[in-house]
Amino acid sequence: MALVTTTEMFKKAYDGGYAIGAFNVNNMEIVQGITEAAGELKSPLILQVSAGARKYANHTYLVKLVEAALIENDIPIALHLDHGADFDICKSCIDGGFTSVMIDGSHHSFEDNIALTKKVVEYAHSKGVVVEGELGQLAGIEDDVKVSDADASYTHPDEVEEFVSRTGVDSLAIAIGTSHGAFKFKPGQKPQLRFDILDEVSKRLPGFPIVLHGASSVSQEYVKIIQENGGNLADAIGIPEDMLRRAAKSAVCKINIDSDLRLAMTAGVRQVLFNKPEVFDPREYLKVGRQYVKDLVAHKITEVLGSDGKA
Ligand code: G3H
Ligand code: 13P
Ligand code: ZN
Repeated sequence: MALVTTTEMFKKAYDGGYAIGAFNVNNMEIVQGITEAAGELKSPLILQVSAGARKYANHTYLVKLVEAALIENDIPIALHLDHGADFDICKSCIDGGFTSVMIDGSHHSFEDNIALTKKVVEYAHSKGVVVEGELGQLAGIEDDVKVSDADASYTHPDEVEEFVSRTGVDSLAIAIGTSHGAFKFKPGQKPQLRFDILDEVSKRLPGFPIVLHGASSVSQEYVKIIQENGGNLADAIGIPEDMLRRAAKSAVCKINIDSDLRLAMTAGVRQVLFNKPEVFDPREYLKVGRQYVKDLVAHKITEVLGSDGKA
């Protein structure tokens, strides 16, 4: 099967009341773990690549790894640029085989965000590629840029119709209280998401796919393994899974997960290296990390996203 855009998968997900997982990929074991789980569960999939991933693994290696996954697994896969910061990186990914890009103009003014997003949409659509835009700002760290809690801002529902109609974007990321990274709430703070904003946005954009960034649940199972095997991730906390399940049933069609993959991979690798100091064959610890990634993605697909059997 060839790479697909997200158009068809979002339409089915919106109508069917489930969401597609968008998982960040940085190396072969992560690509394999994710795609093996999705392949066995017959789930559509979005694999996303950040600027940091391109810097780490190189654009061509990542594209070729995803192409290999397509040969090995008979499921629809979209290849997406995560948090494209400017027109040039979006163009480079559009020209370089991606089927979807995000232009993240959320740090700009409303008018500048519209102008930048529209420019990317015009180029992307001329090449058959779809575009995700963003309104509102999430707290946390993405690509070495740290947005403090004070600078984070929820999406204003009264801006979304104008943004979507003037830019022509195919999906919209909104800020309702999720954040990037493994420390999403302060110790003792009750996790909360603004579902009222999500409901208002979806009322104003009927049938339109919404995207949730910063949606890792930071499973305490993996945190515990990391803590018990020489790591230190005290106070790591994510979005409760019941909130993600609620989002997946709504207009949210794409749920972004990266930190959970990092935790799963790190838990597996730490467990081997901490308990078997004699190990120095990378295959011995990477295969455990890969298996943990696969187990995590299978859990997300069946217990959170509801995308199993939808390929
Ligand atoms: O939203 C950010 C993603 O987790 C990507 O992280 O920029 O460190 O690759 P990265
Ligand atoms: P997490 O840090 O919650 O995994 O979010 C990932 C993300 O939004 C990638 O764009
Ligand atoms: Zn993100």
